[in-house]
Amino acid sequence: MDLFEAMETCRSIRRLKPDPVPDEMLERLVYYATRAASAGNSQLWRFIIVTDPGDRRWFRDMLATALAPTLGDGPPADDDHSLAARNQRMYRRFVLEFDKIPAFILTAVENAFPSAEKPDPHYMWSSVFTATQNLLLAARGMGLGAAMTTNHLANEPAVREHFGIPATVELGATIPIGFPEGRYGPVTRQPVSEVIYRDRWGKM
Ligand SMILES: Cc1cc2nc3c(=O)[nH]c(=O)nc-3n(C[C@H](O)[C@H](O)[C@H](O)COP(=O)(O)O)c2cc1C
Repeated sequence: MDLFEAMETCRSIRRLKPDPVPDEMLERLVYYATRAASAGNSQLWRFIIVTDPGDRRWFRDMLATALAPTLGDGPPADDDHSLAARNQRMYRRFVLEFDKIPAFILTAVENAFPSAEKPDPHYMWSSVFTATQNLLLAARGMGLGAAMTTNHLANEPAVREHFGIPATVELGATIPIGFPEGRYGPVTRQPVSEVIYRDRWGKM
């Protein structure tokens, strides 16, 4: 797959087979993630690869509890084929069966300014999301499914405590990884003509 095709088909793939992903593949994802740019070439990104079934179960239970209001009491009616119902079914499955996904990666970044009283999270995030997007594209290129999520924010203090993440570290994304189940089409995005301004803000 060439680079442009990977970019055009890098969907958020949430339906993933439970089959384990070989460790070499997970390491290769991190290899490509760490080819990204970072501020001042600081490379302070870190990646927690989680495959342990107990940890995956813990994460699933954390999500199910924290997101209970969004998930609702039960799935939408079987005869409801609206987009909202389909999204709700997909999201419920994604969250409630998160432990069946064979791996997830927490992308993180260490404090670039240890002497600063309070690190600037914007500066830190901007240096971890370059790597995170690289990781997603690498997964696509390797035939793996993945998705950018902020699932850790469902209960970040609990996630920090469970995985031993110090306060000086910012979390970037939670990326589920597995072999895709089913087929996914290309990404659907606005035409570039709607997002380009010429010379001045708002001038088409
Ligand atoms: C910063 C960011 C946060 C996101 N957070 C979540 C999330 O918490 N859960 C989720 O299922 N998807 C999450 N997504 C994925 C978006 O919902 C997804 O990219 C968008 O719906 C478009 O779908 P597509 O990527 O399949 O084309 C996030 C994406 C980004 C860039």
